[in-house]
Amino acid sequence: MGRGSRVAIIGAGSVGSSIAFALLLQKISSEILLVDVVPEAVEGQVLDLSDANFISSTQVRGGTFQEAGQCDIVVITAGAKQKSGETRVELIERNYKILNNVIGSMKPFNPNLILLIVANPVDILTRIAQKLSGLPERQVFGSGTFLDSSRLRLKLASVLGVIIWIFGIAENAIHSYVLGEHGDSQIIAWSSAHAGGKPLLDFPEIQKLDKESVAKEIASKAYKIIELKGATYFGIAGCVSMLIHCIVLNQRHIRPLSTYIKEYDCVFSMPVVLGSNGIERIIDISLSEEEKNKLRRSASALKSICAKY
Ligand code: LAC
Repeated sequence: MGRGSRVAIIGAGSVGSSIAFALLLQKISSEILLVDVVPEAVEGQVLDLSDANFISSTQVRGGTFQEAGQCDIVVITAGAKQKSGETRVELIERNYKILNNVIGSMKPFNPNLILLIVANPVDILTRIAQKLSGLPERQVFGSGTFLDSSRLRLKLASVLGVIIWIFGIAENAIHSYVLGEHGDSQIIAWSSAHAGGKPLLDFPEIQKLDKESVAKEIASKAYKIIELKGATYFGIAGCVSMLIHCIVLNQRHIRPLSTYIKEYDCVFSMPVVLGSNGIERIIDISLSEEEKNKLRRSASALKSICAKY
């Protein structure tokens, strides 16, 4: 079963407009609605995106919050963005208020709507959106550590190759996840990572690797980009357009996304099966005791913030 492909993007800033552009390139949505409280921002982005319309027949236009609530998929990017050196969690006060207004203005929702949270702190905002929207939990999830996991695969593909692409291993043949918070307490699930059925920890190149420093490099990549160019948007836009592709075509890929995880009693990323109804299944990945302990600590920090909202 597939689903309709009217996508609304809330927030016409650099993340929202990059997602719209990536979706245009994918040619899978019939219509993209850009929605923002600043009408000039929407008008400017729609005019600019319409200049790229020869790429696909997707219609891009401005829309209202009410219209967004009737779409098939809504992507929430609206919110304050991280400043240099600021953590994602530090955005919660400002972005909670924005999320609350956005959800209130979109109601009543199309009951089959998929609500994809991208604004940060994505795990906490996803938990709040699940509660405020009243939609089934499987239909409300966050982009989570999909982007961090892509960053990790890119890194590992280069580590496993003498020269990337020639003697290396293609990124999509490497199965490795960053899990937990899309933020500072994220973990790399080394114990379950593999390529071709061979545990990554058995590859000599990975054995030699300083894993602490790889974890730091992945967790701090966004900070580095923000320091250099003020914001991150192409990476997240690429990830979100792939997620929408997966939903529209009911592809059922396994992606690490923010969702409620009973074992940890919190919302953060674990591998899930993504299809046209949203999260079809959560994969109970095997983790080492050390990895689980780190996730427990991360969950308790996230839970104590969520409890305030
Ligand atoms: C990043 C933003 C999306 O990691 O949090 O680039």
